[in-house]
Amino acid sequence: MKEIKLSMKGITKTFESDEMKTLALRGVDLDIYDGDYLSIAGPSGCGKSTLLSLMGLLDTPTAGQYLIEGIDVSKLSLSEAAAIRCEKIGFIFQSFNLIDELSVYENVALPLRYRRQSLSEAEIYERVMACLDKVQMNHRAIHNPNQLSGGQQQRIAIARALVANPAVLLVDEPTGNLDSKNGDDVMDMLKDLNREGTTICLVTHDPRYADMATTRLHLLDGKIIELVKLRAAV
Ligand SMILES: Nc1ncnc2c1ncn2[C@@H]1O[C@H](COP(=O)(O)OP(=O)(O)O)[C@@H](O)[C@H]1O
Ligand SMILES: [Mg+2]
Repeated sequence: MKEIKLSMKGITKTFESDEMKTLALRGVDLDIYDGDYLSIAGPSGCGKSTLLSLMGLLDTPTAGQYLIEGIDVSKLSLSEAAAIRCEKIGFIFQSFNLIDELSVYENVALPLRYRRQSLSEAEIYERVMACLDKVQMNHRAIHNPNQLSGGQQQRIAIARALVANPAVLLVDEPTGNLDSKNGDDVMDMLKDLNREGTTICLVTHDPRYADMATTRLHLLDGKIIELVKLRAAV
């Protein structure tokens, strides 16, 4: 029996301002198991990014229960959430969010430097170079991100997301700033990572990319309207 990585029950999210109230998620129930690759599709405004930011502890649900590897994270303080986020979650966004003032090496090392348990420089070096190797970018370790193409920058962002060995990789429209060749390369890389055992949740508009996953989820008006198993997870 595979371990449940993420488990949501009755997750609701309401955004409220003086003028209006938006029900972004309305009772989402979802279990993601070790080795799953879930794609999340649906029209603009249906709640995809909200769902991903709740999964990644970037925001808190209005109601419902959320467990990461069995730990109830629905009602954590901001600092507790930050610590768990750092240890358990890897993020990849459309905008690569790399720091141009730091080398590629230091960008990838960053999540390791923010951990509660510190690592030696030798351990950091080993992990960073292993992740750069995985995305075939170890020959660019001393460059700065702005010296690289978009496709290369997204690969560095993938290495950064992997370096702390997260429970799950959360990916929001990773190809939005890439041409189709580089977009396809990034998606092939995610598929390979999943085949090696990485658990992934991907938000995408592209039906071709949505079908690379093991499970395809369709969201409409903040609700799951379809959950299709496409193939067995590794
Ligand atoms: N921080 C926020 N404040 C107010 N409303 C928000 C906020 N974030 C998202 N929303 C609203 O929640 C709904 C879902 O948004 P979002 O999750 O970004 O959709 P998607 O990623 O599917 O396009 C939308 O109606 C959006 O306007
Ligand atoms: Mg979005």
